[in-house]
Amino acid sequence: RTYRITALAGDGIGPEILQVGRAILDAVAKRMGFGIQWQEGLIGGIAYEQTGDPLPPETLKMAQDSDAVYLAAVGDFKYDTLPREKRPERALLGLRAGLSLFANLRPVKILPQLVDASSLKREVIEGIDLMVVRELTGGIYFGQPKGIFTDAQGSRRGVNTMVYSEAEVDRIARVAFDLAQKRGHKLCSVDKANVLEVSQLWRERVTAVAAEYPDVELSHMYVDNAAMQLVRWPKQFDVILTGNLFGDILSDEAAMLTGSIGMLPSASLGASGPGVYEPVHGSAPDIAGQDKANPIAQVLSGAMMLRYSLDQPEAAAQIEQAVEAVLAQGYRTGDIYSEGMTLIGCQEMGEKILAM
Ligand code: NAI
Ligand code: MG
Repeated sequence: RTYRITALAGDGIGPEILQVGRAILDAVAKRMGFGIQWQEGLIGGIAYEQTGDPLPPETLKMAQDSDAVYLAAVGDFKYDTLPREKRPERALLGLRAGLSLFANLRPVKILPQLVDASSLKREVIEGIDLMVVRELTGGIYFGQPKGIFTDAQGSRRGVNTMVYSEAEVDRIARVAFDLAQKRGHKLCSVDKANVLEVSQLWRERVTAVAAEYPDVELSHMYVDNAAMQLVRWPKQFDVILTGNLFGDILSDEAAMLTGSIGMLPSASLGASGPGVYEPVHGSAPDIAGQDKANPIAQVLSGAMMLRYSLDQPEAAAQIEQAVEAVLAQGYRTGDIYSEGMTLIGCQEMGEKILAM
């Protein structure tokens, strides 16, 4: 069969890394006997320059009409002075909302080839293979009331409200339990149930959903402890399930364990319809157009797309193995370079992966 994929290159290093990712997906599709029909859309700063809108309606429509969205990155510091709704990053929010994406998946795996490149202790990071599942559309970022209000005495109060409904907790919990079933059969739900009522409901619902997954071992952890455990002994985790705010923080913390932002893929999924697959990093304007970017996060995002939206796990595994093989041969882009390795550029990294 043929899958229709929306490719959104965006800004900065976006076009360079997306080109590499696409070439690898095309190659693996050909080898495995399925097709990819690409449709290209504008997003981010470039979309703003060409249409006045960082997420043109045609782009959203195109994304909605596809099997998956393969996104690179958006943004540049030169847009920092634009009003909020015109900024490139707005497009990401619009895309999430327009596709009803409520689950953000961030795998963090330390490849054995890169253990020595990390500044953390070998015994702490060796063997890390976890996934943070973050709820994306609820919690304190969206709860009402929100705003800056003036009280009767004339003093101002900033207000946000952390809200989760039972249904919201149940659906994100199921995503995480499904993943745990396909991974290490362990799920740690992170909350602050000792202080927050919203967390008490969260914990209650996650525990209830766990009954549907007898083969997954559930534990609960307070977020302050989880933040500590992630740097103390990250190997204890398989799937970490958490809400929007805690997940924002913990997923960035977990990302830093690997020591390279250029290696980390992500997926954002809804109940049905296309998911969005993109690297965790941004548009890296400081190295854009210099063939210095590490395309691996983009390439591994493509593997996630094959696994979670296109149901081609075998093709996904082939890509992941090719990346590991190239690293095993000592090839490195600048961001993951260490002494004795062979320094190559973005394009050549793509060629090496393709050749595996
Ligand atoms: P960034 O992730 O773009 O870059 C941070 C540092 O990591 C830079 O030194 C960059 O050169 C390096 N880096 C990032 N990706 C790399 C790669 N693939 N290979 C090698 N080095 C890499 O974050 P920064 O600098 O804070 O933001 C730059 C722009 O990106 C801003 O406009 C920001 O708003 C936007 N951004 C976009 C995101 C997205 O599209 N999802 C996420 C984060 C930031
Ligand atoms: Mg963040």
